[in-house]
Amino acid sequence: MRADRMGKIIAVSNQKGGVGKSTTVVNLAAVFGARGEKVLIIDFDPQGNTTTSLGISKKSIRNTIYDVLLGDCELQEAVAASAFRGVSVVPTTQDLASASVQLLTMENRAMRLRECIKDAADFYDHIFIDCPPTLDMLTINALVAADSVIIPIQCEFLSLEGLVELHQTVSRVRETWNSKLEVEGILFTMCVARYKLTEQIIKEVKKHFPKETFNTVIPRNVAISEAPSFGEPVIYYEKKSKGAKAYEDLAREMIKREKKKAREAAAKQGE
Ligand SMILES: Nc1ncnc2c1ncn2[C@@H]1O[C@H](COP(=O)(O)OP(=O)(O)O)[C@@H](O)[C@H]1O
Ligand SMILES: [Mg+2]
Repeated sequence: MRADRMGKIIAVSNQKGGVGKSTTVVNLAAVFGARGEKVLIIDFDPQGNTTTSLGISKKSIRNTIYDVLLGDCELQEAVAASAFRGVSVVPTTQDLASASVQLLTMENRAMRLRECIKDAADFYDHIFIDCPPTLDMLTINALVAADSVIIPIQCEFLSLEGLVELHQTVSRVRETWNSKLEVEGILFTMCVARYKLTEQIIKEVKKHFPKETFNTVIPRNVAISEAPSFGEPVIYYEKKSKGAKAYEDLAREMIKREKKKAREAAAKQGE
């Protein structure tokens, strides 16, 4: 439990599809939940991969984040419990795709999600927003609502191209709507350790973003890719897999960074 009881809102974003956003949201949420935290996932990608990866059937869904955004229901009325300790979900359906256009005609169009979820930070320790593979109004809403953003990138050469563009979007959001938005970390996903290219890419990104890049690297791992079809996060599907260990390491690294930041802030105040 965070000392101030205010949950941290973390968007997981990259405009490229298939880089491990939904995988990271589901598995990190499960790890924090298993540690005893209260965690909320907001499935903000119309594809709804996160909703299905958690074994929630589309038929059982009553309210979605789309209904919340349009003001048709309260956030609490859209929260569904998952079968996993501490983890709740606000599901999504394809309807959300039209919201990016509908938002354009709304007042405070970039602030809608933020307004809808701000009170939830009193109830949850972590809130993860699974972003769509776009830099459209949905992603802007997620970044405006968030305290920080995790940027998963695949250990591939071309994955670096989008990083600059995403950083520009983060800067724009900071300047215009949300000056407190931080980069929680750049996360390498689906890494194959024995490739020389992998090492070169990690080195290159660390050179440009030394502070932001997580030390934890998520390996390409069969258990991670199989778990969603069983509707389970990897720590429940195969606890001893390298994939499960990697997401546990990532959570530990985040907690460590958070503590370090708190110490630095306290020291600054004492100066
Ligand atoms: N570390 C990993 N090892 C193996 N497969 C992975 C890993 N991370 C993600 N995948 C698989 O890659 C695909 C894309 O991942 P996903 O999280 O859905 O990406 P995104 O949300 O960015 O589109 C999925 O089929 C997922 O199961
Ligand atoms: Mg996804």
